Amino acid sequence: MRPEVLKIGVVGLGQQGSFYTKLFQGAEIRAGVTLPKLLGGELVAVSDMDPQKLEEISGAFPHLACFNDYKDMLDNADVDAVLIATPHYFHPSMAIEAMQRDIHVLVDKPAGVFTNDVQKMNDFSCAKPELQFSMMFNQRCNLLYRKMKDIIDSGVIGAVRYTDWTITTWWRPQSYYDLSAWRATWAGEGGGVLINQAPHQIDLWQWICGMPSTVYAKAGYGSQRDIAVEDDVVALVTYDNGATGVFRTCTHDMLGTDRFEILGDKGKIVVEGSSKIVLKKLVESENVISQGIAKDEVSAILQGVASIDQYFSEETFEFESEWGKQHFDVIQNFLDAINHGSELVAEGAEGINALSITNAIHLSSWLDREVSLPIDGDLFEAELNKRIQQEIATAP
Ligand SMILES: NC(=O)c1ccc[n+]([C@@H]2O[C@H](COP(=O)([O-])OP(=O)(O)OC[C@H]3O[C@@H](n4cnc5c(N)ncnc54)[C@H](O)[C@@H]3O)[C@@H](O)[C@H]2O)c1
Repeated sequence: MRPEVLKIGVVGLGQQGSFYTKLFQGAEIRAGVTLPKLLGGELVAVSDMDPQKLEEISGAFPHLACFNDYKDMLDNADVDAVLIATPHYFHPSMAIEAMQRDIHVLVDKPAGVFTNDVQKMNDFSCAKPELQFSMMFNQRCNLLYRKMKDIIDSGVIGAVRYTDWTITTWWRPQSYYDLSAWRATWAGEGGGVLINQAPHQIDLWQWICGMPSTVYAKAGYGSQRDIAVEDDVVALVTYDNGATGVFRTCTHDMLGTDRFEILGDKGKIVVEGSSKIVLKKLVESENVISQGIAKDEVSAILQGVASIDQYFSEETFEFESEWGKQHFDVIQNFLDAINHGSELVAEGAEGINALSITNAIHLSSWLDREVSLPIDGDLFEAELNKRIQQEIATAP
């Protein structure tokens, strides 16, 4: 019999895990910001290998059972579900350990660091179909991106011709990288802006526009910060239908830009910032319009004398977002999936899509050649290991 209120555990009480514990308690998540308590799940246990983190949490919430070994928590805290918010490398193995004990799992992004590892987690989850396995892709709960996906899926702008996302709002000063030793190292994190800051956008990019088939990328490794991993990336992708896409990101743009544009053969979507969609719909496919313009009309159009306004209409959609609400929604959705069989916003197995793109971008920039998806997971692992070994060999 399924319990009425699930018993929940959180693994990793850093920046993110401690935020989730507050969400479960209905506590203040940011100065003056609280959200309603999550329904159908009660936080009963937490785990962190850092004793200070456990002390802090038990000071704030004394009723929680605290464990410095997460396996001890899985074995002894009688939890029905866990949220995993540890550094990325641990995600797949921790998720498998939980599923082995018939515990439902919500893993934070990214799914892991390399696809071979994440594939093992996905394969294991297939052997446990009765368990809910979800990924913290909270941006999928952002109504703006849900609307964008609806527009693309419903064919309003037709077949995609190109996608273009510049997301450089991830400015991080040097001191950020000095906060935790695992950050921005090959051994600790397995990458930089691609693996830490941009996974949400890379997931949304593929969720909305589909998976690319090839990737060619250039990346700057420690280009503006004293770090080993990438802080500046531009990737060019192609899709099966011949469309192209560009993704640019970095952590050194203080004046950050967030501009996502998708051109289809019947229109275009532009999102500048993250609160407004501008949708332009052509009256017919661009090819049909092109065929219909006579030679004696073309000069006037090109000189701007004749307007093309009659060929399209424009609509805007505005959205507001509430800080923390998207994470809340993913966790509530996870609890509802366990308790009531609701469909997951982000299936755990889908985490490999964004990671495959990330791995492909790294691999392409390392080898300086185009790579095809799915990537060669063994080659990626070998190349990543080379960088880890070099980092270890040159450590002060
Ligand atoms: N979904 C989001 O919006 C979002 C935002 C930030 C971070 N994250 C993700 O959350 C994860 C954690 O990031 P963070 O910023 O909280 O990092 P952090 O360094 O602040 O916290 C990580 C915590 O994990 C603990 N830990 C490490 N190994 C452990 C182990 N074996 N067992 C138990 N605890 C262990 C550390 O002691 C630390 O307290 C990362 O994968 C990151 O990508 C997600």
